[in-house]
Amino acid sequence: MTTVFVTGASSGFGAAFARRFAADGARVVACARRADRLAALGPDVLPLVVDVRDRAAVAAAIEELPASHAEIDILINNAGLALGMEPAHRADLDDWEQMLDTNCRGLMNCTHAILPGMVARRRGHVINIGSTAATYPYPGGNVYGATKAFVRQFSLNLRSDLHGTGVRVTCVEPGMVGGTEFSVVRFGGDAERAGGLYDGMVPLTADDIAEAVHWAARQPPHVNVNTVELMPVAQSFAPFQVHRQPG
Ligand SMILES: NC(=O)c1ccc[n+]([C@@H]2O[C@H](COP(=O)([O-])OP(=O)(O)OC[C@H]3O[C@@H](n4cnc5c(N)ncnc54)[C@H](OP(=O)(O)O)[C@@H]3O)[C@@H](O)[C@H]2O)c1
Repeated sequence: MTTVFVTGASSGFGAAFARRFAADGARVVACARRADRLAALGPDVLPLVVDVRDRAAVAAAIEELPASHAEIDILINNAGLALGMEPAHRADLDDWEQMLDTNCRGLMNCTHAILPGMVARRRGHVINIGSTAATYPYPGGNVYGATKAFVRQFSLNLRSDLHGTGVRVTCVEPGMVGGTEFSVVRFGGDAERAGGLYDGMVPLTADDIAEAVHWAARQPPHVNVNTVELMPVAQSFAPFQVHRQPG
């Protein structure tokens, strides 16, 4: 039986991953800070209340997993957030630090605690949730996009380090996904502003991302899906902006 460890499982993508793999018969460890939300995932999922930014707490929680769930086959590093959309010169430094601590340090903490076991067992799959923001800049994306560029490059570098171990690494990079708490969190709880982002368009859903993650995980052992980038059809690219002098 496969054991899957999902971070950020109390909402959005992470909850969809937990449900998807549990429905498949996998053992799922679901990690986040909000215990009540994790409990709502049902009795088939083992809740793990931990803040991924807390290095010692992450290491201890993983060390203390019950033997039934200790041999993790799939680590899904999904916990993450964007805070604010102000240009860099007006952004809040605390927001920048929280994004860095969660999206980069949190992902490092979980990977560092779980990877040695995978290598020792010569099997495993690290699936990191990046973003199109890693590759395509946008106004107000500043540190959020930079943290996701870290996720992308860390994923590729892990593949080099894990050469010959049998452990796989995938980075899944979605564009706009609706129906999660992502934009509400980004706009400090302003649900109306968050909802407005998706007016008149059909975004991806958390289940679409779960499908991509599940597909990557279910490939035969000789196949490594390096990167999956997906967007809603309604989202695409625009030309570079050009600032012109008046007159
Ligand atoms: N939605 C999008 O458009 C989109 C697009 C591309 C990429 N992404 C990425 O996809 C991932 C999931 O996003 P989502 O849309 O599902 O957002 P979401 O609904 O806000 O879920 C974020 C999850 O991360 C958890 N989390 C945040 N800080 C944490 C911490 N310090 N320790 C442990 N867990 C923490 C939250 O749980 P607690 O608050 O309970 O701890 C929550 O379960 C993020 O990495 C995000 O950057 C989202």
